[in-house]
Amino acid sequence: MIIAIDGPAAAGKGTLSRRIAETYGFHHLDTGLTYRATAKALLDAGQPLDNESVAEETARTVELAGLDRDILSAHEIGEAASKIAVMPSVRRALVEAQRAFSTREPGTVLDGRDIGTVVCPQAPVKLYVTASPEVRARRRFDEIIGKGGSADFDAIFEDVKRRDERDMGRADSPLKPAADAHLLDTSEMSIEAAFQAAKILIDAALKEA
Ligand code: C5P
Repeated sequence: MIIAIDGPAAAGKGTLSRRIAETYGFHHLDTGLTYRATAKALLDAGQPLDNESVAEETARTVELAGLDRDILSAHEIGEAASKIAVMPSVRRALVEAQRAFSTREPGTVLDGRDIGTVVCPQAPVKLYVTASPEVRARRRFDEIIGKGGSADFDAIFEDVKRRDERDMGRADSPLKPAADAHLLDTSEMSIEAAFQAAKILIDAALKEA
């Protein structure tokens, strides 16, 4: 059983994916971390972000077991990740590792931008989780303030829109819903309500499996 969850940054797909994985006892892979880990390794090594063959080589060294969101969450790493994510050979390397992960038993939840369209198009449950850019920027802002940090809402809002443009506009595997994905707009829906909607779809797919 593979659950594919796609959507733009800060739409709530991480929280939803973790909740689904816990509920069903499935393995979870946040595929954004694979792009982030590649970007961080390049930054740490002082490598440029525009050399595709170096980036591909680095992508092949990423260990899925060692991915840690706390270490990889920095804003600069996210920006760098979305730059190297436009490179087809980087994507091929990471997609290979993601596909290998997706076959783990008893089931997997993968979240990212291209899971339903490219990585696991055969997944029986595909969700496209989205929310308006304003709502996503507000959530990110509240999260930073909630952790005692300081943030500038307008800067975050611009960032969200820029990241969307890059992810939706790239030629290789742009962010878009798969034709058979179920859309969950969390702008006016709580994560709990999104989870309940997802659960109905997953339970139905499990009955058919
Ligand atoms: O989701 P997260 O913000 O961690 O992802 C970082 C970047 O990695 C995204 O902006 C996107 O460019 C890239 N990414 C991708 N395909 C995925 C997951 C993430 O291109 N499946």
